[in-house]
Amino acid sequence: MAPSTEPAPDNNICTSDSLKYWNSVSTSVDGMLGGYPEISRTDLKGSANFLAKLRRERPSQSANGRLQRGADCGAGIGRITAGFLSTLCEVVDVVEPVEKFAQEVKGQKMLGSGSVGSVYVSGLEDWVPEAQYDLIWNQWCLGYLTDTLLVAYLKRCKDAVTINGWIIIKENMSTNVDGEDIFDQEDSSVTRTDQKFRRLFKEADMRLIKTEVQRGFPKGLYPVRFYALKP
Ligand SMILES: C[S@@+](CC[C@H](N)C(=O)[O-])C[C@H]1O[C@@H](n2cnc3c(N)ncnc32)[C@H](O)[C@@H]1O
Repeated sequence: MAPSTEPAPDNNICTSDSLKYWNSVSTSVDGMLGGYPEISRTDLKGSANFLAKLRRERPSQSANGRLQRGADCGAGIGRITAGFLSTLCEVVDVVEPVEKFAQEVKGQKMLGSGSVGSVYVSGLEDWVPEAQYDLIWNQWCLGYLTDTLLVAYLKRCKDAVTINGWIIIKENMSTNVDGEDIFDQEDSSVTRTDQKFRRLFKEADMRLIKTEVQRGFPKGLYPVRFYALKP
């Protein structure tokens, strides 16, 4: 077979197109979840279960069981901060490039007793973490970074997790029959294969501690996978 002359799917990513798309989306759970707001409950429950299992397997040294500081990356309107991370962390910093979404986060009603800390209006490709985090949560946002930018971002995260901390990634998985990543023109993003993610983790010198598929989402959506990483 002749080598493909097509550019790699992530080469098509254009940040200004992604931001144009997201600026046109409503500041609601419906907007964040692409017209499937009903999956939010299952999503947050699945995340809580995954983290509970992770913490049972690797107990942290936090005395009261709560984590000091988390980061919600590509946070949108703070759906995950409000509905999940606030139950785990004392403080949650937020990173989100779309100003109108970032503005919403502080006004969200938190399910837990945690509060919102710093809000960085920034893409992850430009974010340089300044704090030490027990948890860096990345969900449905890493497809806006090229492979090269994603590896560079993960390397920056390595220096920003506490000794007992984790970097969590929760992303759609490509279902392409040829095992390729899929470029989506609508929001200028790429959906990666499991294989590609694992390769990029290696490139970033990250250890994959635990991985699992989210259950209970409607058929017809991409499968969603969790990864827990450590430097
Ligand atoms: C599908 S929404 C997910 C929001 C949130 N993680 C959730 O699950 O509710 C994707 C989010 O990624 C943000 N985003 C777009 N480009 C980004 C980038 N370069 N870095 C970080 N986030 C980005 C969008 O503005 C949007 O808020």
